[in-house]
Amino acid sequence: MGRNKQLREYIKAYKWSDMLAMVRNNKADPRRCSDDFAGRLVVITGATAGIGYATARTYASHGANLLCINRNAGKSRVLCRELETEFGVRCRDIIADLSTLADMHRVGHQLAQLEEPIDVLIHNAGTYLTRRVETVDGLEAVFAVNHLSSFVINYLLRDKLLAQSGGRVLLVNSEAHRFAPWGLHLDDLNWEKHRYSGLLSYGSAKLAQLLAMITFGDLLEGSGVTVNAVHPGAVRTESGKDNGPVYRWYKNNILERNFRSTAISADALYYLGVSAEVGGVSGKFFNLTTLENPAPPALDRGAADELWRISLKLGDLEGSVARVR
Ligand SMILES: NC(=O)c1ccc[n+]([C@@H]2O[C@H](COP(=O)([O-])OP(=O)(O)OC[C@H]3O[C@@H](n4cnc5c(N)ncnc54)[C@H](OP(=O)(O)O)[C@@H]3O)[C@@H](O)[C@H]2O)c1
Repeated sequence: MGRNKQLREYIKAYKWSDMLAMVRNNKADPRRCSDDFAGRLVVITGATAGIGYATARTYASHGANLLCINRNAGKSRVLCRELETEFGVRCRDIIADLSTLADMHRVGHQLAQLEEPIDVLIHNAGTYLTRRVETVDGLEAVFAVNHLSSFVINYLLRDKLLAQSGGRVLLVNSEAHRFAPWGLHLDDLNWEKHRYSGLLSYGSAKLAQLLAMITFGDLLEGSGVTVNAVHPGAVRTESGKDNGPVYRWYKNNILERNFRSTAISADALYYLGVSAEVGGVSGKFFNLTTLENPAPPALDRGAADELWRISLKLGDLEGSVARVR
């Protein structure tokens, strides 16, 4: 489809009612699930801070064993000791920098070799950068961490997930995908030709993750494994800590003034990972635990197919079978 036609389709698909629903949902509390999850395995990326930390604690408090994919070995060790001592569960970790292709691949292969099923896989690690940063592989860092790492890991895990009798994959996404209202620059996912901004790159990476969910949803259809995306609320965390002092001042003193506690994110991620009420739901976007229509570009199957092809290339996965449908 030509770019102009695509834009016309998006404009037609935008609805005020969806925007009003988002505003309403942003104020809602998440549904809670009090079911036990003893002995089940939960894999979570980025559990050393913010939403990931609160979520790992919530799962552990219900008896789940944790496998945390963390960047900082010291913080990771402290976390695992805390969860094991406080809740009597098992906590293991894999130390990985999910901005690098080598670590994305290593994590994917290590998880694929696990003997036990992964009951819940939470792609939570994320970053927000006000300036364009290149990774060791020459990728733009926000795109690499927020989209490509979950893409590569899910792709390398597909056979294991398909062989399991169930399981839930949760993508910690964001309402910020709406900051890319006219879709992705599929010819420039690495932000080499277009003007870079924190909001645009972050919004685009989150949009890319939502588009990839369409194709992973197709891949997993009928397998009993579901994949859903979650806006975890606007909550106070360490996000943006790698930016300069002006941004950090703005975040701490203005942006986060009305932000909520990470407890709501953890409740939502527990509910979506465990509750029978959403057991068969897949391919959906939730604002906390409320089902919501994402922005029209996130539902564009043509863009999803193209992104899939490009992500296989950028993710160094082209040796693998490239077609799903
Ligand atoms: N906070 C919000 O209001 C909000 C709203 C919508 C969506 N989200 C999403 O929620 C998720 C969690 O963010 P947060 O707000 O909790 O931020 P946070 O407090 O900064 O936590 C981010 C976590 O990801 C890890 N991480 C960052 N870069 C990584 C890398 N290259 N490799 C491995 N791990 C890495 C961090 O590890 P270190 O401890 O080593 O830094 C940390 O554990 C993100 O996907 C974010 O986009 C947050």
